[in-house]
Amino acid sequence: MSSATKEIKTIGVLTSGGDAPGMNAAIRAVVRRALGKGLKVYGIYRGYDGLMEEDLKELSAQDVSDTIQKGGTVLYTARCAEMRTPEGQKRAAETCRKYGIEGLVVIGGDGSYRGAQVLAHQGINVVGIPGTIDLDISCTEYTIGFDTSVNTAMEAIDKVRDTSTSHERCSIIEVMGRNAGYLALWCGIANGAEDILLPENYDYDEQRIIDNIIDSRRRGKKHHIIINAEGVGHSASMARRIEAATGMETRATILGHMQRGGSPTAKDRVYASIMGCMAVDLLIAGKSERVVGYKNGKFQDFDIDEALAMVKGIDPYQYEIATAMSGGYSKTSGAKALNDETL
Ligand code: F6P
Repeated sequence: MSSATKEIKTIGVLTSGGDAPGMNAAIRAVVRRALGKGLKVYGIYRGYDGLMEEDLKELSAQDVSDTIQKGGTVLYTARCAEMRTPEGQKRAAETCRKYGIEGLVVIGGDGSYRGAQVLAHQGINVVGIPGTIDLDISCTEYTIGFDTSVNTAMEAIDKVRDTSTSHERCSIIEVMGRNAGYLALWCGIANGAEDILLPENYDYDEQRIIDNIIDSRRRGKKHHIIINAEGVGHSASMARRIEAATGMETRATILGHMQRGGSPTAKDRVYASIMGCMAVDLLIAGKSERVVGYKNGKFQDFDIDEALAMVKGIDPYQYEIATAMSGGYSKTSGAKALNDETL
């Protein structure tokens, strides 16, 4: 970690990677906190792409008004492959120097922090804010967007459940999360799913799911909800196989990008606002290569290297709760044991 303490006068803020509801609240907080402390602040459009292409604008407090309630990101975002190349990194650092950007707030996930680290090694102070619906950043129990996303998915799954019950069907509902199962686990608990399939411990024993469906049907259950994580995937083919094996009509629903949109919940607005202000305060204090997080009931900051090196697993106790509530796969299967890692 850089220990250099320099007085910062100008900062930039960008969003990078997949968008997440609440990112606008974080941007707004960064801008207003910075202006309130006498700093100049640039909004950088389209993530690192915009930094390389000098797609940026000095922002006023007014520029971020009427944004806290909006989904998406007003700065737009991108997954920037070029930021992994030395040429791209050089161009990004040059833009910072050209505009006098001495501090940069990066709102995004792990991949975005790697880009930030590179800039830090070129003398730009950087602070990351966790922004992703996936909740897959190891140093923090909260990431901007997860709360909204899980509520959006939960409402959608309730609706699927209604029609599933009417038609006495089995429904496999696939939720996002890339390689992480948090969205699936939370939806599984919140929606009272019969089965929850997580990439962290699914053992691909489909026969066990089939047996569970047949058994619950025999006991008079009208529907069978399986929450399948994106990291397990293959919901459509799974549905075909389950229908053939059980005789129960089975449909697959992939919720997809609707989970990334929508007006942020109060939690996402408030936590994102706090994290945005904290990021600016860290830069003002001369800190660099830090990630803002929420852990053990408080907001704190972590060294980027350490944050990136941390391993995150599904909390075994939360999984146990899910299994205790469900009647299916999660309860009876030999799902692989989870490591003793907590959220
Ligand atoms: O990281 C957020 C996320 O929505 C993941 O859950 C998903 O795997 C991925 O982004 C989808 O990315 P894209 O919008 O680029 O298809």
